[in-house]
Amino acid sequence: MTTSLRNLTSFGDVAAEDDAVLDYFLATDAVAQIERKQAFLVLGRKGAGKTAIVRHFTEGMSESRSRPLNLRGYPWAIHAQRIDRGGSEVEAYVSSWRYLIALEFASMVLEDSERPQHDKVEALTSFFKDNYGGINPSLSDVLRPKRLRISKFSLQPTILGNSIGGVELERGPGDLQLGSELNALTTSIMESCYAIVANESLGPYVLHFDELDQGLSASDHTREKMLIGLIIAARDVRRECAKVNAPMIPVVYLRTDLWDDLEFSDKNKIGQTLTLRLEWTNESLLALVNERLKVKLAPSIHWESIVEPSLMRGSQTKWNHILARTFLRPRDVISFLNASLSESRMRPDEILVLSNSDIINAREQYSSYLKEELDDEILPHWPKWEQALQACSAMNTITFDREDFRREYEGRRTKDNPVGADDALALLYRFSVIGYSRRSGYGGSSWAFQYTDPQAGWDNAATRFKVHLGLKEYAKLREERI
Ligand SMILES: Nc1ncnc2c1ncn2[C@@H]1O[C@H](COP(=O)(O)OP(=O)(O)O)[C@@H](O)[C@H]1O
Ligand SMILES: [Mg+2]
Repeated sequence: MTTSLRNLTSFGDVAAEDDAVLDYFLATDAVAQIERKQAFLVLGRKGAGKTAIVRHFTEGMSESRSRPLNLRGYPWAIHAQRIDRGGSEVEAYVSSWRYLIALEFASMVLEDSERPQHDKVEALTSFFKDNYGGINPSLSDVLRPKRLRISKFSLQPTILGNSIGGVELERGPGDLQLGSELNALTTSIMESCYAIVANESLGPYVLHFDELDQGLSASDHTREKMLIGLIIAARDVRRECAKVNAPMIPVVYLRTDLWDDLEFSDKNKIGQTLTLRLEWTNESLLALVNERLKVKLAPSIHWESIVEPSLMRGSQTKWNHILARTFLRPRDVISFLNASLSESRMRPDEILVLSNSDIINAREQYSSYLKEELDDEILPHWPKWEQALQACSAMNTITFDREDFRREYEGRRTKDNPVGADDALALLYRFSVIGYSRRSGYGGSSWAFQYTDPQAGWDNAATRFKVHLGLKEYAKLREERI
Protein backbone atom coordinates (compact mmCIF):
# COMPACT_ATOMS: atom_id res chain seq x y z
CA MET A 1 0.00 0.00 0.00
CA THR A 2 1.27 3.47 -0.76
CA THR A 3 1.19 6.09 1.88
CA SER A 4 2.10 9.70 2.05
CA LEU A 5 3.69 11.61 4.86
CA ARG A 6 1.44 14.47 3.77
CA ASN A 7 -1.01 12.97 6.22
CA LEU A 8 1.40 13.06 9.10
CA THR A 9 2.13 16.35 10.86
CA SER A 10 4.40 14.95 13.54
CA PHE A 11 5.72 11.76 15.12
CA GLY A 12 4.52 13.07 18.47
CA ASP A 13 5.72 15.54 21.05
CA VAL A 14 9.17 14.93 22.54
CA ALA A 15 7.91 15.11 26.14
CA ALA A 16 5.37 12.63 27.47
CA GLU A 17 3.57 15.47 29.29
CA ASP A 18 2.54 16.98 25.96
CA ASP A 19 2.41 13.84 23.85
CA ALA A 20 -0.70 11.78 23.16
CA VAL A 21 1.51 8.92 24.33
CA LEU A 22 -1.37 6.79 25.63
CA ASP A 23 -2.73 6.46 22.09
CA TYR A 24 0.41 4.63 21.03
CA PHE A 25 2.06 3.55 24.25
CA LEU A 26 4.47 0.67 23.87
CA ALA A 27 4.28 -1.65 26.87
CA THR A 28 7.87 -2.78 27.21
CA ASP A 29 9.37 -5.33 29.60
CA ALA A 30 10.03 -2.49 32.00
CA VAL A 31 6.31 -1.82 32.24
CA ALA A 32 5.61 -5.48 32.96
CA GLN A 33 8.21 -5.49 35.71
CA ILE A 34 6.70 -2.47 37.41
CA GLU A 35 3.28 -4.09 37.04
CA ARG A 36 4.61 -7.20 38.79
CA LYS A 37 5.90 -4.95 41.61
CA GLN A 38 9.47 -6.07 41.02
CA ALA A 39 10.98 -2.61 41.23
CA PHE A 40 10.29 0.46 43.30
CA LEU A 41 13.04 2.58 41.77
CA VAL A 42 12.98 3.29 38.03
CA LEU A 43 16.08 4.91 36.56
CA GLY A 44 16.41 6.41 33.11
CA ARG A 45 18.17 9.23 31.35
CA LYS A 46 16.24 12.28 30.33
CA GLY A 47 13.90 11.28 27.51
CA ALA A 48 14.06 7.57 28.26
CA GLY A 49 10.34 7.30 29.00
CA LYS A 50 9.79 7.76 32.74
CA THR A 51 6.85 10.13 32.49
CA ALA A 52 5.34 8.02 29.70
CA ILE A 53 5.20 5.05 32.08
CA VAL A 54 3.72 7.15 34.87
CA ARG A 55 1.01 8.36 32.52
CA HIS A 56 0.34 4.81 31.36
CA PHE A 57 -0.24 3.67 34.93
CA THR A 58 -2.12 6.69 36.17
CA GLU A 59 -4.25 7.61 33.15
CA GLY A 60 -4.30 4.46 31.03
CA MET A 61 -5.53 0.96 31.64
CA SER A 62 -4.01 -0.71 34.65
CA GLU A 63 -5.17 -3.18 37.28
CA SER A 64 -3.85 -1.08 40.12
CA ARG A 65 -5.13 2.21 41.42
CA SER A 66 -2.29 4.54 40.63
CA ARG A 67 -1.70 8.13 41.59
CA PRO A 68 0.97 10.35 40.04
CA LEU A 69 2.95 12.54 42.41
CA ASN A 70 4.47 15.14 40.17
CA LEU A 71 7.20 17.04 41.98
CA ARG A 72 7.40 19.85 39.45
CA GLY A 73 6.80 22.94 41.55
CA TYR A 74 7.09 20.98 44.79
CA PRO A 75 7.91 23.26 47.74
CA TRP A 76 11.32 21.73 48.40
CA ALA A 77 12.29 24.60 50.67
CA ILE A 78 9.37 23.97 53.01
CA HIS A 79 10.09 20.27 53.04
CA ALA A 80 13.75 21.04 53.79
CA GLN A 81 12.65 22.70 57.03
CA ARG A 82 10.88 19.51 58.12
CA ILE A 83 14.20 18.01 59.04
CA ASP A 84 14.61 15.31 61.67
CA ARG A 85 17.59 16.56 63.62
CA GLY A 86 17.60 13.46 65.80
CA GLY A 87 18.65 11.22 62.92
CA SER A 88 21.75 10.97 60.76
CA GLU A 89 22.14 13.24 57.77
CA VAL A 90 20.72 10.53 55.54
CA GLU A 91 17.79 9.80 57.83
CA ALA A 92 17.00 13.49 58.21
CA TYR A 93 14.20 13.40 55.65
CA VAL A 94 13.09 9.79 55.79
CA SER A 95 10.36 10.33 58.37
CA SER A 96 8.86 13.31 56.54
CA TRP A 97 8.72 11.36 53.25
CA ARG A 98 7.25 8.32 55.00
CA TYR A 99 4.54 10.54 56.38
CA LEU A 100 3.86 12.01 52.94
CA ILE A 101 3.67 8.53 51.37
CA ALA A 102 1.35 7.28 54.10
CA LEU A 103 -0.91 10.29 53.73
CA GLU A 104 -1.19 9.80 49.96
CA PHE A 105 -2.10 6.13 50.39
CA ALA A 106 -4.62 7.07 53.06
CA SER A 107 -6.17 9.63 50.76
CA MET A 108 -6.64 7.02 48.00
CA VAL A 109 -8.01 4.47 50.43
CA LEU A 110 -10.54 6.93 51.83
CA GLU A 111 -11.60 7.89 48.30
CA ASP A 112 -12.43 4.24 47.61
CA SER A 113 -13.88 3.24 50.96
CA GLU A 114 -17.62 2.65 51.07
CA ARG A 115 -17.99 2.01 54.78
CA PRO A 116 -17.90 5.43 56.46
CA GLN A 117 -18.98 3.94 59.78
CA HIS A 118 -15.85 1.84 60.15
CA ASP A 119 -13.86 3.24 63.10
CA LYS A 120 -10.60 3.52 61.14
CA VAL A 121 -12.33 5.31 58.29
CA GLU A 122 -13.78 7.78 60.77
CA ALA A 123 -10.46 8.30 62.54
CA LEU A 124 -8.52 8.88 59.33
CA THR A 125 -11.19 11.15 57.91
CA SER A 126 -11.16 13.37 60.97
CA PHE A 127 -7.39 13.53 60.89
CA PHE A 128 -7.59 14.79 57.30
CA LYS A 129 -10.36 17.26 58.11
CA ASP A 130 -8.53 18.61 61.16
CA ASN A 131 -5.35 19.27 59.26
CA TYR A 132 -6.21 19.74 55.60
CA GLY A 133 -9.92 20.45 55.46
CA GLY A 134 -10.59 17.38 53.29
CA ILE A 135 -9.25 13.98 52.23
CA ASN A 136 -7.44 15.27 49.14
CA PRO A 137 -4.79 17.80 50.11
CA SER A 138 -2.52 18.81 47.26
CA LEU A 139 0.95 17.34 47.34
CA SER A 140 2.53 20.69 48.10
CA ASP A 141 0.32 21.15 51.18
CA VAL A 142 1.10 17.85 52.89
CA LEU A 143 4.05 19.17 54.90
CA ARG A 144 2.96 22.80 54.97
CA PRO A 145 1.14 22.92 58.33
CA LYS A 146 3.34 24.10 61.16
CA ARG A 147 1.63 21.66 63.44
CA LEU A 148 -0.35 18.48 62.81
CA ARG A 149 -3.34 18.22 65.11
CA ILE A 150 -4.45 14.86 66.39
CA SER A 151 -7.82 15.25 68.08
CA LYS A 152 -9.39 12.75 70.44
CA PHE A 153 -11.59 11.11 67.83
CA SER A 154 -8.96 10.82 65.20
CA LEU A 155 -5.85 8.63 65.15
CA GLN A 156 -4.14 7.53 68.32
CA PRO A 157 -0.42 7.38 67.73
CA THR A 158 1.68 6.49 70.74
CA ILE A 159 5.31 6.64 71.72
CA LEU A 160 6.32 4.12 74.40
CA GLY A 161 2.67 3.72 75.35
CA ASN A 162 1.97 7.47 75.66
CA SER A 163 -0.42 8.96 73.15
CA ILE A 164 0.59 12.17 71.42
CA GLY A 165 -1.81 15.02 70.82
CA GLY A 166 -0.03 16.59 67.87
CA VAL A 167 3.21 16.87 65.95
CA GLU A 168 5.05 20.16 65.59
CA LEU A 169 6.46 20.14 62.06
CA GLU A 170 8.29 23.40 62.61
CA ARG A 171 11.17 22.77 64.97
CA GLY A 172 14.01 24.72 66.51
CA PRO A 173 17.62 23.60 65.99
CA GLY A 174 17.91 21.88 69.39
CA ASP A 175 14.73 19.88 69.02
CA LEU A 176 15.31 16.21 68.28
CA GLN A 177 11.77 14.86 68.55
CA LEU A 178 10.34 15.26 65.05
CA GLY A 179 11.46 11.88 63.72
CA SER A 180 10.01 9.69 66.44
CA GLU A 181 6.73 11.61 66.68
CA LEU A 182 6.18 11.68 62.95
CA ASN A 183 7.04 7.98 62.68
CA ALA A 184 4.47 7.16 65.34
CA LEU A 185 1.85 9.14 63.43
CA THR A 186 2.83 7.48 60.13
CA THR A 187 2.56 4.05 61.70
CA SER A 188 -0.92 4.77 62.92
CA ILE A 189 -1.98 6.11 59.50
CA MET A 190 -0.59 3.03 57.76
CA GLU A 191 -2.20 0.65 60.25
CA SER A 192 -5.55 2.32 59.65
CA CYS A 193 -5.00 1.90 55.90
CA TYR A 194 -4.16 -1.80 56.32
CA ALA A 195 -7.34 -2.33 58.30
CA ILE A 196 -9.59 -0.52 55.82
CA VAL A 197 -8.01 -2.19 52.79
CA ALA A 198 -8.42 -5.65 54.37
CA ASN A 199 -11.97 -4.94 55.53
CA GLU A 200 -13.16 -3.84 52.07
CA SER A 201 -10.66 -5.77 49.88
CA LEU A 202 -9.37 -2.57 48.29
CA GLY A 203 -6.29 -1.97 46.16
CA PRO A 204 -3.68 -2.57 44.96
CA TYR A 205 -2.45 1.01 45.31
CA VAL A 206 0.62 2.43 43.61
CA LEU A 207 2.14 5.90 44.01
CA HIS A 208 4.40 7.17 41.22
CA PHE A 209 6.90 9.90 42.13
CA ASP A 210 8.03 11.72 38.97
CA GLU A 211 9.88 14.89 37.99
CA LEU A 212 12.25 14.85 40.93
CA ASP A 213 14.80 16.74 38.87
CA GLN A 214 12.68 19.82 38.26
CA GLY A 215 14.26 23.09 39.28
CA LEU A 216 17.50 21.41 40.27
CA SER A 217 20.56 23.61 40.38
CA ALA A 218 24.23 22.76 40.56
CA SER A 219 25.48 20.86 43.64
CA ASP A 220 22.26 21.03 45.56
CA HIS A 221 23.38 19.24 48.70
CA THR A 222 20.09 19.47 50.57
CA ARG A 223 18.15 18.24 47.55
CA GLU A 224 20.45 15.23 47.35
CA LYS A 225 19.75 14.36 50.97
CA MET A 226 16.05 14.72 50.32
CA LEU A 227 16.21 12.41 47.29
CA ILE A 228 18.01 9.81 49.36
CA GLY A 229 15.38 10.25 52.06
CA LEU A 230 12.60 9.61 49.56
CA ILE A 231 14.27 6.50 48.17
CA ILE A 232 14.83 5.04 51.63
CA ALA A 233 11.33 5.97 52.76
CA ALA A 234 9.82 4.32 49.67
CA ARG A 235 11.91 1.20 50.24
CA ASP A 236 10.88 1.03 53.91
CA VAL A 237 7.18 1.53 53.24
CA ARG A 238 7.27 -1.08 50.50
CA ARG A 239 8.93 -3.51 52.88
CA GLU A 240 6.52 -2.83 55.76
CA CYS A 241 3.51 -3.29 53.48
CA ALA A 242 4.91 -6.51 52.06
CA LYS A 243 5.35 -7.85 55.57
CA VAL A 244 1.66 -7.53 56.34
CA ASN A 245 0.54 -8.33 52.79
CA ALA A 246 -0.90 -4.87 52.26
CA PRO A 247 -1.15 -4.07 48.53
CA MET A 248 0.50 -0.64 48.62
CA ILE A 249 3.62 0.30 46.72
CA PRO A 250 5.46 3.57 46.16
CA VAL A 251 7.54 3.78 42.96
CA VAL A 252 10.19 6.46 42.44
CA TYR A 253 11.28 7.55 38.93
CA LEU A 254 14.67 9.18 38.86
CA ARG A 255 17.11 10.47 36.28
CA THR A 256 20.15 8.21 36.08
CA ASP A 257 22.66 11.06 36.44
CA LEU A 258 21.10 12.14 39.74
CA TRP A 259 21.14 8.58 41.08
CA ASP A 260 24.81 8.21 40.07
CA ASP A 261 25.71 11.18 42.27
CA LEU A 262 23.93 9.99 45.40
CA GLU A 263 25.96 8.43 48.16
CA PHE A 264 24.43 6.39 50.95
CA SER A 265 25.09 3.06 52.56
CA ASP A 266 22.27 0.95 51.10
CA LYS A 267 22.77 2.28 47.60
CA ASN A 268 24.39 -0.82 46.12
CA LYS A 269 21.86 -3.13 47.64
CA ILE A 270 18.96 -1.10 46.28
CA GLY A 271 20.66 -0.63 42.91
CA GLN A 272 21.16 -4.34 42.43
CA THR A 273 17.84 -5.74 43.51
CA LEU A 274 14.89 -3.40 43.40
CA THR A 275 15.92 -1.06 40.63
CA LEU A 276 14.87 -1.01 37.03
CA ARG A 277 16.93 0.73 34.37
CA LEU A 278 15.01 1.92 31.35
CA GLU A 279 16.93 0.74 28.32
CA TRP A 280 15.94 0.74 24.67
CA THR A 281 17.25 -1.26 21.75
CA ASN A 282 17.18 -0.92 18.00
CA GLU A 283 14.16 -3.27 17.95
CA SER A 284 12.15 -1.66 20.75
CA LEU A 285 12.69 1.82 19.30
CA LEU A 286 11.56 0.61 15.90
CA ALA A 287 8.48 -0.91 17.51
CA LEU A 288 7.80 2.44 19.17
CA VAL A 289 7.95 4.24 15.81
CA ASN A 290 5.85 1.59 14.08
CA GLU A 291 3.18 1.87 16.75
CA ARG A 292 2.96 5.60 16.12
CA LEU A 293 2.73 5.12 12.35
CA LYS A 294 0.05 2.50 12.76
CA VAL A 295 -2.11 4.76 14.94
CA LYS A 296 -1.43 8.02 13.15
CA LEU A 297 -1.56 6.79 9.54
CA ALA A 298 -3.06 3.34 9.05
CA PRO A 299 -2.76 -0.15 10.59
CA SER A 300 -0.73 -1.48 7.67
CA ILE A 301 1.88 1.28 7.76
CA HIS A 302 5.32 0.69 9.23
CA TRP A 303 8.79 2.21 8.93
CA GLU A 304 9.62 0.68 5.54
CA SER A 305 6.43 2.16 4.09
CA ILE A 306 7.47 5.73 4.79
CA VAL A 307 11.08 5.73 3.63
CA GLU A 308 12.47 5.68 0.16
CA PRO A 309 14.54 2.46 -0.06
CA SER A 310 17.97 3.66 -1.22
CA LEU A 311 20.83 3.26 1.24
CA MET A 312 22.85 6.13 2.64
CA ARG A 313 26.61 6.62 2.46
CA GLY A 314 28.54 3.55 3.59
CA SER A 315 25.57 1.30 2.67
CA GLN A 316 23.81 2.39 5.82
CA THR A 317 20.05 2.14 6.19
CA LYS A 318 18.21 5.31 7.09
CA TRP A 319 17.14 3.79 10.37
CA ASN A 320 20.70 2.98 11.39
CA HIS A 321 21.86 6.40 10.28
CA ILE A 322 19.31 7.96 12.63
CA LEU A 323 19.92 5.61 15.54
CA ALA A 324 23.68 6.22 15.40
CA ARG A 325 22.94 9.87 16.18
CA THR A 326 20.80 9.16 19.24
CA PHE A 327 21.54 7.94 22.74
CA LEU A 328 19.00 5.15 22.09
CA ARG A 329 16.28 7.18 23.79
CA PRO A 330 12.76 7.59 22.43
CA ARG A 331 12.96 11.37 22.72
CA ASP A 332 16.00 11.50 20.41
CA VAL A 333 14.36 9.29 17.80
CA ILE A 334 11.12 11.28 17.83
CA SER A 335 13.04 14.53 17.61
CA PHE A 336 15.13 13.33 14.66
CA LEU A 337 12.07 12.03 12.85
CA ASN A 338 10.16 15.26 13.36
CA ALA A 339 13.05 17.24 11.93
CA SER A 340 13.24 14.88 8.92
CA LEU A 341 9.51 15.09 8.42
CA SER A 342 9.53 18.87 8.25
CA GLU A 343 12.35 18.68 5.70
CA SER A 344 10.39 16.28 3.58
CA ARG A 345 7.16 18.25 3.82
CA MET A 346 8.86 21.18 2.15
CA ARG A 347 8.88 19.15 -1.06
CA PRO A 348 5.76 19.25 -3.24
CA ASP A 349 5.65 15.48 -3.93
CA GLU A 350 2.16 14.06 -3.85
CA ILE A 351 3.27 10.75 -2.42
CA LEU A 352 5.73 11.76 0.20
CA VAL A 353 8.35 9.50 1.81
CA LEU A 354 11.57 10.29 3.69
CA SER A 355 14.57 10.60 1.40
CA ASN A 356 18.25 10.44 2.23
CA SER A 357 18.60 14.18 1.89
CA ASP A 358 15.64 14.80 4.24
CA ILE A 359 17.57 12.89 6.84
CA ILE A 360 20.86 14.59 6.14
CA ASN A 361 19.18 18.01 6.19
CA ALA A 362 17.51 17.22 9.51
CA ARG A 363 20.83 16.69 11.25
CA GLU A 364 21.53 20.36 11.85
CA GLN A 365 18.31 20.97 13.76
CA TYR A 366 18.57 17.64 15.55
CA SER A 367 22.11 18.36 16.66
CA SER A 368 21.03 21.60 18.36
CA TYR A 369 18.25 19.70 20.08
CA LEU A 370 20.73 17.13 21.37
CA LYS A 371 23.05 19.82 22.73
CA GLU A 372 20.14 21.37 24.64
CA GLU A 373 19.19 18.01 26.11
CA LEU A 374 22.78 17.54 27.23
CA ASP A 375 22.73 21.00 28.82
CA ASP A 376 19.80 19.93 30.98
CA GLU A 377 21.63 16.82 32.05
CA ILE A 378 25.19 18.08 32.45
CA LEU A 379 24.84 21.68 33.70
CA PRO A 380 23.77 20.72 37.25
CA HIS A 381 26.95 18.64 37.52
CA TRP A 382 29.29 20.84 35.55
CA PRO A 383 28.18 24.41 34.78
CA LYS A 384 31.13 25.06 32.44
CA TRP A 385 30.90 21.97 30.26
CA GLU A 386 30.55 24.18 27.20
CA GLN A 387 34.30 24.88 27.44
CA ALA A 388 34.99 21.21 26.84
CA LEU A 389 32.69 21.15 23.84
CA GLN A 390 34.42 24.23 22.47
CA ALA A 391 37.75 22.45 22.88
CA CYS A 392 36.34 19.61 20.78
CA SER A 393 35.17 22.08 18.13
CA ALA A 394 38.60 23.66 18.03
CA MET A 395 40.14 20.31 17.08
CA ASN A 396 37.89 20.20 13.99
CA THR A 397 37.74 16.44 13.56
CA ILE A 398 35.31 14.13 15.25
CA THR A 399 38.16 12.00 16.61
CA PHE A 400 40.93 13.46 18.75
CA ASP A 401 43.85 12.67 21.07
CA ARG A 402 44.13 13.27 24.79
CA GLU A 403 47.09 15.62 24.40
CA ASP A 404 45.28 17.84 21.91
CA PHE A 405 42.26 17.97 24.15
CA ARG A 406 44.35 18.92 27.16
CA ARG A 407 45.88 21.81 25.27
CA GLU A 408 42.65 23.14 23.79
CA TYR A 409 40.64 22.67 26.97
CA GLU A 410 43.15 24.13 29.43
CA GLY A 411 43.56 27.10 27.09
CA ARG A 412 39.82 27.84 27.38
CA ARG A 413 39.24 26.85 30.96
CA THR A 414 38.20 29.72 33.21
CA LYS A 415 38.98 30.10 36.91
CA ASP A 416 35.43 29.23 37.92
CA ASN A 417 35.67 25.86 36.18
CA PRO A 418 37.20 23.41 38.67
CA VAL A 419 37.21 20.43 36.29
CA GLY A 420 40.69 19.54 34.98
CA ALA A 421 41.24 18.13 31.48
CA ASP A 422 41.40 14.47 32.48
CA ASP A 423 38.30 14.72 34.67
CA ALA A 424 36.59 16.57 31.85
CA LEU A 425 37.15 13.63 29.52
CA ALA A 426 35.75 11.25 32.14
CA LEU A 427 32.66 13.42 32.56
CA LEU A 428 32.12 13.72 28.81
CA TYR A 429 32.30 9.95 28.65
CA ARG A 430 29.83 9.56 31.49
CA PHE A 431 27.19 11.45 29.50
CA SER A 432 28.21 9.70 26.23
CA VAL A 433 29.34 12.95 24.66
CA ILE A 434 32.53 11.04 23.78
CA GLY A 435 33.66 7.42 23.53
CA TYR A 436 37.20 6.07 23.64
CA SER A 437 39.08 3.74 21.35
CA ARG A 438 39.49 0.29 22.77
CA ARG A 439 41.45 -2.61 21.42
CA SER A 440 39.27 -5.51 20.47
CA GLY A 441 40.27 -9.04 19.46
CA TYR A 442 42.13 -9.76 16.20
CA GLY A 443 44.16 -6.57 16.47
CA GLY A 444 41.24 -4.26 15.62
CA SER A 445 39.76 -1.48 17.68
CA SER A 446 36.29 -0.20 18.44
CA TRP A 447 34.70 2.83 20.10
CA ALA A 448 33.41 2.27 23.63
CA PHE A 449 30.52 4.56 24.56
CA GLN A 450 28.81 4.49 27.93
CA TYR A 451 25.30 4.27 26.46
CA THR A 452 25.97 1.32 24.18
CA ASP A 453 28.50 -0.47 26.35
CA PRO A 454 27.85 0.34 29.99
CA GLN A 455 29.96 -2.53 31.25
CA ALA A 456 33.08 -1.30 29.42
CA GLY A 457 33.68 1.40 32.05
CA TRP A 458 35.90 4.42 31.72
CA ASP A 459 39.54 3.87 30.79
CA ASN A 460 41.81 6.44 32.41
CA ALA A 461 44.63 5.48 30.11
CA ALA A 462 42.70 5.88 26.86
CA THR A 463 44.42 8.19 24.39
CA ARG A 464 42.05 8.36 21.43
CA PHE A 465 38.46 9.63 21.57
CA LYS A 466 35.45 10.24 19.38
CA VAL A 467 32.68 12.79 19.78
CA HIS A 468 29.16 11.38 19.54
CA LEU A 469 27.83 11.65 15.99
CA GLY A 470 24.72 13.51 17.13
CA LEU A 471 26.89 16.49 18.10
CA LYS A 472 28.82 16.62 14.85
CA GLU A 473 26.78 19.44 13.32
CA TYR A 474 26.43 21.49 16.49
CA ALA A 475 30.15 21.32 17.22
CA LYS A 476 31.01 21.80 13.52
CA LEU A 477 33.16 18.71 13.30
CA ARG A 478 34.12 16.70 10.25
CA GLU A 479 34.98 13.06 9.90
CA GLU A 480 38.64 12.25 9.63
CA ARG A 481 39.90 11.50 6.15
CA ILE A 482 41.60 8.15 6.01
N1 LIG B 1 6.74 3.22 26.23
C1 LIG B 1 6.56 4.25 25.39
N2 LIG B 1 5.64 4.19 24.40
C2 LIG B 1 5.45 5.23 23.56
N3 LIG B 1 6.14 6.38 23.63
C3 LIG B 1 7.06 6.52 24.60
C4 LIG B 1 7.32 5.46 25.52
N4 LIG B 1 8.29 5.87 26.38
C5 LIG B 1 8.62 7.11 26.00
N5 LIG B 1 7.89 7.51 24.94
C6 LIG B 1 7.97 8.84 24.30
O1 LIG B 1 9.32 9.29 24.37
C7 LIG B 1 9.38 10.67 24.71
C8 LIG B 1 10.19 10.85 26.00
O2 LIG B 1 9.55 10.20 27.08
P1 LIG B 1 9.34 10.86 28.53
O3 LIG B 1 8.45 9.95 29.27
O4 LIG B 1 8.93 12.28 28.39
O5 LIG B 1 10.83 10.77 29.11
P2 LIG B 1 11.38 11.12 30.57
O6 LIG B 1 10.21 11.38 31.45
O7 LIG B 1 12.17 9.92 31.00
O8 LIG B 1 12.26 12.32 30.39
C9 LIG B 1 7.94 11.14 24.82
O9 LIG B 1 7.56 11.67 23.58
C10 LIG B 1 7.17 9.86 25.09
O10 LIG B 1 5.86 9.97 24.60
MG1 LIG C 1 9.72 13.10 32.52
